[in-house]
Amino acid sequence: MYQDEADWSGEGVSLTAHQDASDQDVETSLRPRKLSEFIGQARVREQLELVLHGALKRGDQPDHVLFSGPPGLGKTSLSMIIATELGSSIRVTSGPALERPGDLAAMLSNLAEGDVLFIDEIHRIARPAEEMLYLAMEDYRVDIVVGKGPGATSIPLELAPFTLVGATTRSGALTGPLRDRFGFTAHMEFYSPEELELVVRRSAGILGVDLRDDGAVEIAGRSRGTPRIANRLLRRVRDFAEVRADGAVTLEVARAALEVYDVDELGLDRLDRAVLSALINSFHGGPVGISTLAVAVGEESSTVEEVCEPYLVRAGLLARTPRGRVATAAAWHHMGLTPPQHAPGSPQPDLLAE
Ligand SMILES: Nc1ncnc2c1ncn2[C@@H]1O[C@H](COP(=O)(O)OP(=O)(O)OP(=O)(O)O)[C@@H](O)[C@H]1O
Ligand SMILES: [Mg+2]
Repeated sequence: MYQDEADWSGEGVSLTAHQDASDQDVETSLRPRKLSEFIGQARVREQLELVLHGALKRGDQPDHVLFSGPPGLGKTSLSMIIATELGSSIRVTSGPALERPGDLAAMLSNLAEGDVLFIDEIHRIARPAEEMLYLAMEDYRVDIVVGKGPGATSIPLELAPFTLVGATTRSGALTGPLRDRFGFTAHMEFYSPEELELVVRRSAGILGVDLRDDGAVEIAGRSRGTPRIANRLLRRVRDFAEVRADGAVTLEVARAALEVYDVDELGLDRLDRAVLSALINSFHGGPVGISTLAVAVGEESSTVEEVCEPYLVRAGLLARTPRGRVATAAAWHHMGLTPPQHAPGSPQPDLLAE
């Protein structure tokens, strides 16, 4: 019944926004290094610049910074840029790596004055480590508990002033006390096609790809508002251009290549379409809960929720309602079907009569 599921899981080339192993090396070379090289997110960039340069001017340690938003929008890149702009070094860890408070204490006590500590996926940090972080963020201090039971004592340990930079794809999963301790929170937005065009042009320059204007527009338009996807599509289209054409990435080459990789005109990939297809074909357009939907496409709820859903909502194909997820009229049309009356965005009968 769920034919897309089988297709999807058999897929060799992942085009979702999640980082995969093949991305890692090339992403490092494509990462913008300075705030001025960072494309788009104009508001976040301006605000961040003020936060950093204000602190630099006063000779203070900048406030802790939190970046939230879907995968591949530049949270890690911006975190690295913060360290560069401050002229300090960065230590990198992630929420899942900080299972025991001791792991975090070791990390914190190794920081030098002015260092940036980057915690990726900070919403996945274990509770005891999180509680230790509160004091560290507020007072640059941790309490190390020595011994067990009634004889246990806690020894305060002074830390060098540092700036914590947290990144999360699920700001909603962050506890209030943690969120409140960040002096600056930035929500990353999807990029416009024009911004993504600049991203792919820049990357083509670095990778030495012969990218033509119309090819750039085509790739940018199908990148789901996400620089990571834009860069990945560029690489896939380059392969196609080199093997099946003369190496130049033109509109025709980009179209033909993206067809091979199952990226449709809206940039939806197999998983996105599997979600829409399940929603429409198995649940009559919804409403249906996210976990049921995830089971129907054979994915984790968190993947559907954090990776697919934000863009489907933004593209106006999926709506969140208190009773569950609903396919909009645009989604039915996109799947080549006629939307029923109850689909959001369907013309109302009385309006039709007019
Ligand atoms: N504003 C930008 N300008 C140019 N390239 C960008 C920009 N933002 C992101 N990129 C590119 O996209 C890639 C992915 O960005 P990054 O790793 O910073 O995303 P992320 O938000 O941390 O994703 P995740 O949530 O998966 O960790 C980078 O390697 C870089 O090549
Ligand atoms: Mg990241």
